[in-house]
Amino acid sequence: MRWALLLQLLASLPNGQAEEHCSLLQAKTAAAALQVERPYFDLLIVVPSNPQQLALRSAVRQGWGRYLNETGHCPRCNSNRTVKLLFGVGPLPEWMKNQSTGEREKDLAVLPIVADEYHSLTEKIRNLIAYALENYRFALLLKADTDSFIFMDRVLRTLEQKSLFEQQDLYAGGLIRRVKPIVNLKDRHAKWADLHYTNLTGHKRFPHYAGGFGYFLSPSLCRYIATHKTSPMLPELTALANEDASVGFWLQPVQHQEVYLPVSKNTTGCHDRDVMIDHEISKERMLHRGKKLMKQGDPCS
Ligand SMILES: *[C@@H]1O[C@H](CO)[C@@H](O)[C@H](O)[C@H]1NC(C)=O
Ligand SMILES: *[C@@H]1O[C@H](CO)[C@@H](O)[C@H](O)[C@H]1NC(C)=O
Ligand SMILES: *[C@@H]1O[C@H](CO)[C@@H](O)[C@H](O)[C@H]1NC(C)=O
Ligand SMILES: *[C@@H]1O[C@H](CO)[C@@H](O)[C@H](O)[C@H]1NC(C)=O
Ligand SMILES: *[C@@H]1O[C@H](CO)[C@@H](O)[C@H](O)[C@H]1NC(C)=O
Repeated sequence: MRWALLLQLLASLPNGQAEEHCSLLQAKTAAAALQVERPYFDLLIVVPSNPQQLALRSAVRQGWGRYLNETGHCPRCNSNRTVKLLFGVGPLPEWMKNQSTGEREKDLAVLPIVADEYHSLTEKIRNLIAYALENYRFALLLKADTDSFIFMDRVLRTLEQKSLFEQQDLYAGGLIRRVKPIVNLKDRHAKWADLHYTNLTGHKRFPHYAGGFGYFLSPSLCRYIATHKTSPMLPELTALANEDASVGFWLQPVQHQEVYLPVSKNTTGCHDRDVMIDHEISKERMLHRGKKLMKQGDPCS
């Protein structure tokens, strides 16, 4: 019905205008074709990093990255799902541009952000989500850190058991409820201080948000976050000091499903086998677990 109307409308337009509409249609068709070409993965894992952190990225690849084979399958996971790991870095320094580090095309997303420092992390994550949408199709996005360990078998099993690949508008992870922003710069966690939140919103506590070392987002929520970054037609979403609190803050007025998942902010994943993702994993521990995974089939053996 709509198509018939559109065709009628085009027929009734003077030539020049009709052409303009046609090229719009062509552009839309081309965009649709592009969408078909973007590779699909069930789970796209994005990890922010700095260009210089070659050794850390290498440890991740040789750590939990070893669950995945070349096609993105996890042969040990009893699952047909495909997974893609993507590191997001800021612009490469000159010395790296010309260097063949072997990682450029495979899993490095070079993002157009100015500085690589903690306070630009919110910006980087938004850019990384936009990059993921432009270049891939996926059922779920997982944001993790270079010091997160992803127990892929547990992740895929849990997502399957809870039917989360099929869940619309999902925001899942270690949801933190009703915490107050850190406002004391002498606090030992001062790195995460947010001095402006309460003035900005009139609220004393953050909305629910999932810890930044491992949270899942549906494509719809990714699009919402990315569109309000890239579209000149829309106002930007206000970035808070912390990337993970920002995501919870942005999603607050939007329909979404919050699901609590067993993730651990410290290294407890080998004691508690319900933990899907753990954190504060040193480079050495990352490599050690990767070796165990290769040799014994279990990173905790
Ligand atoms: C990856 O693993 C899947 C099964 O888990 C297998 O079918 C596929 O052939 C493997 N691909 C490569 C390149 O090893
Ligand atoms: C993987 O896919 C194959 C072919 O579609 C199917 O026979 C097999 O049961 C699937 N395995 C799992 C673990 O889902
Ligand atoms: C570095 O880049 C320059 C210019 O882009 C090029 O001529 C040169 O061959 C490159 N060197 C290497 C080692 O790739
Ligand atoms: C927040 O607002 C209060 C009262 O208006 C003001 O005294 C304080 O300086 C503000 N703090 C910041 C970080 O803007
Ligand atoms: C890990 O974090 C939990 C809180 O999330 C805490 O109760 C526990 O003591 C921590 N364990 C270690 C080993 O730091």
